[in-house]
Amino acid sequence: MRDAFIIDDAREKKFLLNREALVSPSVLQAEMKKVFAKCWIYVGHASEIKAPGDFVTRRVTGRPIIFCRDHSGEIHCFFNTCRHRGAIVCTEPAGNRRGFRCIYHGWAYVNDGKLAGVPGADAYADTFDKNELGLRRPPRFESYRGFWFLCLDKDAPSLETYLGKAKDYMDLVLDQSPSGTMEILTGVQDYDIAANWKLMVENSVDDYHIPTTHSTWLAYMANSGVGIHVPQGEGLVLPTKGWAIDLGNGHFTTDNINFRGRPVAKWIPIYGEDAKPEMDEIRRELVERLGPDRANRVADTNRNLVIFPNLVINDGSSVTVRTFYPENAAKMHVSAWAFGPVEESETARARRLDAFLTFYGPGGFATPDDVEALELVQQGLANWEDDPWSEMSRGMGKESAQLNSDEHHLRIFWRRWNQLMEAAQ
Ligand code: FES
Ligand code: FE
Repeated sequence: MRDAFIIDDAREKKFLLNREALVSPSVLQAEMKKVFAKCWIYVGHASEIKAPGDFVTRRVTGRPIIFCRDHSGEIHCFFNTCRHRGAIVCTEPAGNRRGFRCIYHGWAYVNDGKLAGVPGADAYADTFDKNELGLRRPPRFESYRGFWFLCLDKDAPSLETYLGKAKDYMDLVLDQSPSGTMEILTGVQDYDIAANWKLMVENSVDDYHIPTTHSTWLAYMANSGVGIHVPQGEGLVLPTKGWAIDLGNGHFTTDNINFRGRPVAKWIPIYGEDAKPEMDEIRRELVERLGPDRANRVADTNRNLVIFPNLVINDGSSVTVRTFYPENAAKMHVSAWAFGPVEESETARARRLDAFLTFYGPGGFATPDDVEALELVQQGLANWEDDPWSEMSRGMGKESAQLNSDEHHLRIFWRRWNQLMEAAQ
């Protein structure tokens, strides 16, 4: 009998995580059934497949899928598995096609999933019905404002119910666009990390690590003339002041006030004087459309939002949509995209992409340092049997609001994860 995954002791103000949760292949096997097969899992954004016939393929929770828009404009998600003898049907990562033809024996499917052609069909008996052999789909496939998710549990609550209060924070991101329409910018950052996927959940919202792991980034910002100022107060270690917010269902976010001295439109990041007229105009439009309070909320706060279990929206120096899947217990694959308003001008878009690439991705100031930290954790966890508990009590038992540099939000994730893992099925 193994120990519990977590020790959550409110009286002692202690929260410990059993490191087996981060190393064990059998835990991963259970996660696939109890977490990934029960929750709504992010597939992609509508803007990735804008035109009829557009498609992308990817692996979502280990399952190859086709995310596509058919000839009439309807969006679908299919399992990328031939109904004949199981080959991958679409081998390209993205493109535009009226249909998909399996290279093995040539079965051909229309982009609405129907099986259209079978070479040598006359060899089959009259019980063979092509109508029953369209590409299979996940039991549930729904969207919220352009974000499409699948769910393998046909009895799950609707996506909107599942997202619950997290929608308010998604709206804060989406309201940056005058029409409420944001798009994934072409190009993806795809990389592997030799670490358990849950370490990326933690890292995406763990503001405690920023002063140490990202000291290079902070020094760069300071040298670029961005006012870095650590607010005074108990437990404050960061140049942002912010809180950790529980959104229910395992979702959570940081909710931060921007760097002091930061310009009004936070998503236009490093800004010479030449950027000012454009930033002023963006601010004016926001205030006119949303009113001063909401404009302030959208533009002068930033957030790292986690949609349980594995979608992160970083709304900071740029906006990033990031998802990640376990390859095995000690390895994950990460995909991250920049995200911006469809109306954005060329110059604002250029600044956005500059901010995105400066901070995120294999060539950014932040990502390589984060990857290094997570891989060091995974390496350290090799001693888990003799040193089995991670200490995650920071901020526990506080009367005041939980800070973004506490571990309250990390505990929210682990409590929900534990609840699902302890469920009978
Ligand atoms: Fe696809 Fe045979 S496996 S046509
Ligand atoms: Fe980081």
